[in-house]
Amino acid sequence: MSQCIDLNREDELHRLDTTGMFAALESLSGQCAEANRELVEKVPLSGIEAISNIVVTGLGGSAIGGDLLRVYAAGRIATPIVVNRDYLLPEFVGPDTLVFAVSYSGNTEETLSAYAEALGKGASIVAITSGGKLGEAARQDGFPVVTVPGGFAPRAANGYLFVPMLKVLHKLGLLSDMTEEIDETVVVLKDMCNKLGPAAVEAANPAKQIASRLYGKIPVIWGVAGTSEVVAQRWKGQINENAKSPAYWNVLPELNHNEIVGLQFPEEILKKIHVVILRDEKDHPRVQKRIEITKEVLQGKIDGFSEVRSSGNGALARLYSLLCTGDYVSVYLAALNGVDPGPVKAIDFLKNELQNR
Ligand code: F6R
Repeated sequence: MSQCIDLNREDELHRLDTTGMFAALESLSGQCAEANRELVEKVPLSGIEAISNIVVTGLGGSAIGGDLLRVYAAGRIATPIVVNRDYLLPEFVGPDTLVFAVSYSGNTEETLSAYAEALGKGASIVAITSGGKLGEAARQDGFPVVTVPGGFAPRAANGYLFVPMLKVLHKLGLLSDMTEEIDETVVVLKDMCNKLGPAAVEAANPAKQIASRLYGKIPVIWGVAGTSEVVAQRWKGQINENAKSPAYWNVLPELNHNEIVGLQFPEEILKKIHVVILRDEKDHPRVQKRIEITKEVLQGKIDGFSEVRSSGNGALARLYSLLCTGDYVSVYLAALNGVDPGPVKAIDFLKNELQNR
């Protein structure tokens, strides 16, 4: 199978990228920095109190920040966090719930429906959006709105959609001050962009190397519970939306109890599977052993394994280092597939169709 584009041809990479996805990836550190110091500063949060649970409601690129929050905040916050990707909210939602209604466009119908339900249940709501119907409704209903800059694809606005939740929770006294961890993340992301960006040649660029290994294959991304699990899901979504390729994800140790048994038939399809394992220094030591044994069990049955290790000191920087690698991999895989990473015609079509039915 011949690749559509030589990943060392920076001009070709940019030619295919008509919506500026590379520039958007590069802006992730700036988004985190802006959200760390500015976006939430003037958002009035008075009146939000006695919160005993938190729900983040959103879809796709607007929901993944909720999972990042759930994983990152575990161990740092006593309040349970649930991520909701549906029209309806969990039954427990009530006046003691803080609902983050997150929709980059502000027009996603499931999120608007969940917002209306949160309103009806008397929950405290904070909207995070670039505008749209959600921004309008929340403002009219008197809820705080974190207005993020427009002009990005929702999946490329992750820093804007995630970091404000940390800031809001800190302002509400539910989470300690994460400013320094976010600062470190900004530095790590800048460094990653230099190492993984289009100007870095494939021989020295792990994202280009992994994309080449995934080309023509079915990517399966494995994360580890409590650390990289959410990033595995992010890789999957980014490969779907940017590279227009199927991708699947799962989590260790759970996959040791089912998925490894299922990787036996059909043999010719299994040879197309390439597994990427996302690793972090804080992975449970027993899980690290499990990874080695799992690789032995599957040796020769699938195309192969790639491993990506997180970098940075703080948990947030390490999470984002893995996320950033996946984002670049997905855009290089788009290039190898010969597709523009930006447009997501199937999602647009579906949303349009739903408006007329
Ligand atoms: C597109 C993308 C999608 C959207 C999803 C919800 O870039 O990432 O997954 O995030 O369709 O739309 P919003 O984020 O506007 O609520």
